[in-house]
Amino acid sequence: MPPADLLHHLSTEARERKPNLIRDVWKSVKRGSDIVSLANGDPHYTLYPLRRLQYEVPSLCPEDPVSAWRAAHGTATSQTFTSHIDEHCALSIRTALQYSTGAGSTEARESIMEINKYYHNPPNHVVTLALGNADALSKCFRLFGEPGDNFIADEYAFTALTSVAESQGIGWVPVRLDAGGMVPEELHRILLNWDDACGRRPHVIYLVPCGQNPTGSTLSIERRKRIYEIAQEFDLLIIEDDPYYFLQFGSCSPEVTDSSHNLLPSFLSMDEDGRIIRVDSFSKIIAPGMRLGWITSNPAFQPYIIAITDASSQHPHGFGQMFITELLAPTGWQLRGFDKWVHSLRAEYQRQRDFFVKVFHEEVEPSGLAEMQVPQAGMFVWVRVNMEKHSRYRDDLRISARSMEPRTNAKDLMAQLFDYCLDNGVAFMPGSVFALSSHPALLNMDSPVEDRVNYCRMTFSGTQETIQKGLSRFGGALRNFFNLDSLSADAETRE
Ligand SMILES: Cc1ncc(COP(=O)(O)O)c(C=O)c1O
Repeated sequence: MPPADLLHHLSTEARERKPNLIRDVWKSVKRGSDIVSLANGDPHYTLYPLRRLQYEVPSLCPEDPVSAWRAAHGTATSQTFTSHIDEHCALSIRTALQYSTGAGSTEARESIMEINKYYHNPPNHVVTLALGNADALSKCFRLFGEPGDNFIADEYAFTALTSVAESQGIGWVPVRLDAGGMVPEELHRILLNWDDACGRRPHVIYLVPCGQNPTGSTLSIERRKRIYEIAQEFDLLIIEDDPYYFLQFGSCSPEVTDSSHNLLPSFLSMDEDGRIIRVDSFSKIIAPGMRLGWITSNPAFQPYIIAITDASSQHPHGFGQMFITELLAPTGWQLRGFDKWVHSLRAEYQRQRDFFVKVFHEEVEPSGLAEMQVPQAGMFVWVRVNMEKHSRYRDDLRISARSMEPRTNAKDLMAQLFDYCLDNGVAFMPGSVFALSSHPALLNMDSPVEDRVNYCRMTFSGTQETIQKGLSRFGGALRNFFNLDSLSADAETRE
């Protein structure tokens, strides 16, 4: 079935962007093999001070290659493959390091399309490479966002990226989350009751379906299906930001039984209409400094994404494309090896998660001052601080019932706890950093997010030593913060 016509979602900027005339001429030059080009200022590849790049990567022979690689750091068994300037290889230095097209080199895209096909089997989509998910998302926000638009997101979101959209004049409409991620009924309620006086009804949802940053929540298959149905009902696009897709913890996904890779079905895999724009990244599964990711979209959107790239980063990272193409080639790991690596990686993160949970139970939970949700994917734990037990906690701050002010001083106390923890040698990310303030259209100010920022985001991505030391310091600091404060409050009352 062809994708639905969804071009009306494009922003004015995307529609009105002038074509890059130089690129158009360049395309014509490339048409014929016999054309002598005096057209472009491309440095000749014989001037690149580079002949060969050899990569030494883990051997995939061990049962659990990630733990073998980590345990024998520097001496673990390895395999090598090479990029050459113009000898045969999967993507030559000559090609990869020349100026290329905004979508990325054909060779790298074909390798990545194999990954897509195996894990998502999208019906009718194309791949455009990007410099990681941050780059991909900032492009998507520009593609679909008009100043004055409102986009939907989880009420606690990765604000490093939502703030990018804000600087374009896009507002956020936060949807309540629970331990299972975005609550579809809340999303439906917001869309159904939207008041046009508050601007155009949102036409884009931005979400992180696996191991959401910061809450660590993962959307079940049922929620995914329901959110997709809602997107169809209200003609929404969904930007599926899924950097933690490969870090789903197997034993926690019992729903997944019908696929060989044993991962939850992505929104992309269920996209009948072409309304999913999925962004993937190598940051969490290979290395963040690679700055390489990919956007999978309805083909109709691709020229517009490329036009933004033409006008900004030009094209994706040449070195990263070479490495990934060789990694997935017959002389490298191939798709089968990549799958073995990411399976082993998720087992490693699961062990880290389990260790975090164990230490949290020992060092933090007994005080009753904090509790955690056990994440089923990703690298984050969302810790609730039971601030209502603090002697200086207040929940009567709102002056009038109709005002939008917070009722509690949770935010202030969390800021103090953060400083106190820093003084005691441990850092976390305060929940307030991720909170999207309520939108005036929601008319539901009973519980503003500012009253519910008594959370910390913690990660188990470090070593077990870091987790042990960090949680032990956090547990101690938390007890002191509550006890010491109540002692000084008692003293003040006595004076
Ligand atoms: C939810 C989410 N989206 C996007 C990114 C950025 O990823 P990348 O390194 O691919 O730009 C991150 C990084 O932490 C993230 O957590």
